[in-house]
Amino acid sequence: DMKETWKAVDAFIDEELHVSDEVMESILEKNEEAGLPPIEVAATHGKMLYLLAKMSGASSILEIGTHGGYSTIWLARALPKDGLMATLEVSDKHANIAEENIRNAGFEDQVAVIRGQALDSLPKLMEKGYPRFDFIFIDANKDSYPEYLEEALEVSTTGTVIVADNVVRGGQVIDPDTEEKNIPHIRKFIEMLSENDEIETTIIQTVGRKGYDGFLLGRVK
Ligand code: DHB
Ligand code: MG
Repeated sequence: DMKETWKAVDAFIDEELHVSDEVMESILEKNEEAGLPPIEVAATHGKMLYLLAKMSGASSILEIGTHGGYSTIWLARALPKDGLMATLEVSDKHANIAEENIRNAGFEDQVAVIRGQALDSLPKLMEKGYPRFDFIFIDANKDSYPEYLEEALEVSTTGTVIVADNVVRGGQVIDPDTEEKNIPHIRKFIEMLSENDEIETTIIQTVGRKGYDGFLLGRVK
């Protein structure tokens, strides 16, 4: 069974390369205890987000979709001491848990959880005093990915890295007639990128603990 192999190799990588640690594991435990669905990025992929943010030298990071703050803290770890991060979350329950996790990880001075519909919060970020973001991670409700892309581009600048989770979904992304309700929105998101000359992109297919999916990677020109 390939899925078992993907899972076992994910665990092997995690262990051999010391990808996870007590802080990250305690967040997953807290989220599970609180009854959050276990849809956080795999540790190996969280570490990839951290590395991408660090490699890009990001000092301002935006996350759309906080969940329990797991990927948030991976990304916050990439920030320099004077860096900052905003993460947008619609669920108060999730935001409360994330804030606790962010505090426990020591990032409460650098990371703000912004509550409410991301499509309401996004147009207000600049007037709130946030700078244009160096790194943007999109990982919220999939049916709004096209609008999130538009708003993300509004708060981007040359060199901004945009990453989006869950753009392959077991390969369903290539089926225009799928019954899966999110795929048409993911396909629109990809179509918008294909027509946009202001961003260079690729999609990396992934396997692992969470099965077969993929990340959109982009850089604003
Ligand atoms: C699921 C996984 C995700 O990474 C996500 O952001 C939302 C949902 C899922 O497997 O259902
Ligand atoms: Mg996701």
